[in-house]
Amino acid sequence: MGYRTLLAEDRGAIRTITINRPDKLNALNRETIGELTLAFDAARRDEAVRVVVLAGAGEKAFVAGADISELATLSPIEARERSREGQALMRRIETLGKPVIARIQGYALGGGMELAMACHLRVGSEKAKIGQPEINLGLIPGFGGTQRLLRLAGRPATLELCLLGHTIDAQRALSLGVLNRVVAADKLDEEVAAIADQLAASAPIALAGILDAILAGGECAIDQGLDYEAQAFATCFATEDMREGTKAFLERRKPTFSGR
Ligand code: COA
Repeated sequence: MGYRTLLAEDRGAIRTITINRPDKLNALNRETIGELTLAFDAARRDEAVRVVVLAGAGEKAFVAGADISELATLSPIEARERSREGQALMRRIETLGKPVIARIQGYALGGGMELAMACHLRVGSEKAKIGQPEINLGLIPGFGGTQRLLRLAGRPATLELCLLGHTIDAQRALSLGVLNRVVAADKLDEEVAAIADQLAASAPIALAGILDAILAGGECAIDQGLDYEAQAFATCFATEDMREGTKAFLERRKPTFSGR
């Protein structure tokens, strides 16, 4: 399917979705949010896709935020609607049921940081610059930033980043758990590809179980979370992949997972 603001490309079971507005540092306007929603729905439906990489075009930015030229004119009612649309996209990504890796080569600010936090893994170049600068516009994060950063990095760092609105470098982001890995700029694609390859070769139903159990477990009491884990664990025993994984181990060979 053709997009105006995105590129989508497959390498084996890995789909890379690239936000393609480099002249605007890939800022998220309404059209981009709509197309990302369609692109993630398509990735969910396509059984051949096992992993998604989310990237921003150009050297400078993953995404430099929600499109400020659009925000500037909104009424409060429209702003609430826009916040809900952005939040819904982030939730769709988070609950995709397939791992999503954010590739962050430069700025991930505001809606860009929120988008990255909705992904399951974040790999950054050492040049990455990350933050929630909405306060500098007289705003607060509106695409889930106050809630996901709180869950990811805790209250002290969330208060600091949202109240002060400064950007942090890749090493600080790594220390907060906002980035999972930091590599030299010229090694970013290699690192993202290595992680994506590993996930693409893993058992998809088990990956989905891990994603679901961890997401659900973060939001409920431990006994409910443990119930959830036991159910997802049991589901794996209905898969060919679990038989293959355990058999391959016992036969001292590498498993081949079919996704069934
Ligand atoms: N929304 C809309 N347009 C944006 C944007 C955003 N969030 N971020 C960058 N752009 C546009 C700029 O307006 C500029 O467009 P123009 O060339 O048509 O004037 C273009 O992208 C390049 O940005 P520029 O500011 O010239 O680059 P820079 O290297 O000097 O600065 C940033 C980079 C990221 C520091 C700066 O663009 C910035 O502060 N962006 C906004 C970040 C933000 O507040 N995000 C949260 C939004 S809620």
